[in-house]
Amino acid sequence: MIIKQKIMRNVSLTAHPAGCAAYVAEQVAFLDAQSRPSAPENLPKRVLVIGGSTGYGLASRMVGALIGGAATLNVSFEREPSENKVATPGWYNTKAFERVAHERGLYAQSLFGDAFSAEMKERVAREIREQMGQVDLIVYSLASPMRIDPVTGQTYKSVLKPIGKPYAALSVDVPSGIVETAVIEPAEDSQIEDAVKVMGGEDWQLWIDHLHAEGLLAEGVKTVAYSYIGPQITYPVYREGTIGKAKEHLESTASLLTDRMRGIGGSAYVSVNKALVTRASAVIPVVPLYIALLYQVMKEKGLHEDCTRQMYRLFIDRLYAGPAVPVDDEGRIRLDDWEMRTDVQEEVDRRWNMQREGEQMIGGDLAGFKEEYDHIHGFGYSSIDYERDVDPRSI
Ligand code: NAI
Repeated sequence: MIIKQKIMRNVSLTAHPAGCAAYVAEQVAFLDAQSRPSAPENLPKRVLVIGGSTGYGLASRMVGALIGGAATLNVSFEREPSENKVATPGWYNTKAFERVAHERGLYAQSLFGDAFSAEMKERVAREIREQMGQVDLIVYSLASPMRIDPVTGQTYKSVLKPIGKPYAALSVDVPSGIVETAVIEPAEDSQIEDAVKVMGGEDWQLWIDHLHAEGLLAEGVKTVAYSYIGPQITYPVYREGTIGKAKEHLESTASLLTDRMRGIGGSAYVSVNKALVTRASAVIPVVPLYIALLYQVMKEKGLHEDCTRQMYRLFIDRLYAGPAVPVDDEGRIRLDDWEMRTDVQEEVDRRWNMQREGEQMIGGDLAGFKEEYDHIHGFGYSSIDYERDVDPRSI
């Protein structure tokens, strides 16, 4: 079939197998070009990534395997391809990455299904026991709009809303580049609790408790989950909104997990990462405008990083940099340090204030935003003939 990009409300419904392979190949080339850390033996050798098929999770997996030489196990939620239906980008990425890993003699396996379920935790435990023995690092990188509670069977949905009062701010319609005002109504109390259920730390804790109880966590194990803070302008809808409550819960879960793993010298961290175009972030109102401005400013200053560059810095300069992991006053790893630099934020603010509702966006790297969004779905590569008939099952 001929696979074209189909986007509905900032969500790409399709993905291209050859393009996803090209995306993975680009990340591999970047990692191969990095000089190896002086003490690669510090890096983890057995890594479980929960949510490792796209975005930050895929990048973490690739850094673990290709820089550290780790065996990697991924858990992610995918749609498999059929003769006339494309798979999710995560499925294609996973196949492309695992082929590279296998060529290099590395164990790389994936279990596709619902990471929130008890059944998946059992399957993963079995796989670790049989193939890896134990794990040295667990990356928790899920971004999901819903979760089914494994005990009660109740479904929780996570919505991104402000708390207490409506939020109105400028945003940009990505296809047209027209600036518009996004208004988001405040959450009901139950929606705050539901967001915490989905995106807070409860499931991360269930994973760690389960693997710990099964004796599958190695001495000195580390686990990391990802969070975001961002600029003042998005506080009402992000950090002080429903998702911010979930992230606060995730962050407080880290210290609880460190306590629970004390007997094996384990430690848990939350890493606050930079705003980047991923499948999860592109659908958040206001984010495309902010990211387009941020990308332009950070590229001009030579500070721009994509997921893979951020995760490279996480492993080399933070998690495995030395005996003590550098953290902020609240115990969090900060990879958003360059994004949050005063000169960067002041310049983003200045450009933000130039925008006018109903008019074309002024400045900003909307082209960079779109290109990255296309690339993470395997589109927009000049090396690929998108008119060519391809089998969606072949990668
Ligand atoms: P993403 O959408 O690229 O990746 C999400 C991953 O979760 C995918 O592998 C997907 O298959 C998996 N997943 C979702 N539901 C699942 C389920 N029920 N079972 C198994 N796997 C499931 O998202 P992204 O942006 O990489 O987000 C990962 C984490 O990083 C999130 O916690 C997010 O809040 C955080 N983060 C993202 C930032 C951004 O700007 N993109 C910035 C800072 C933190």
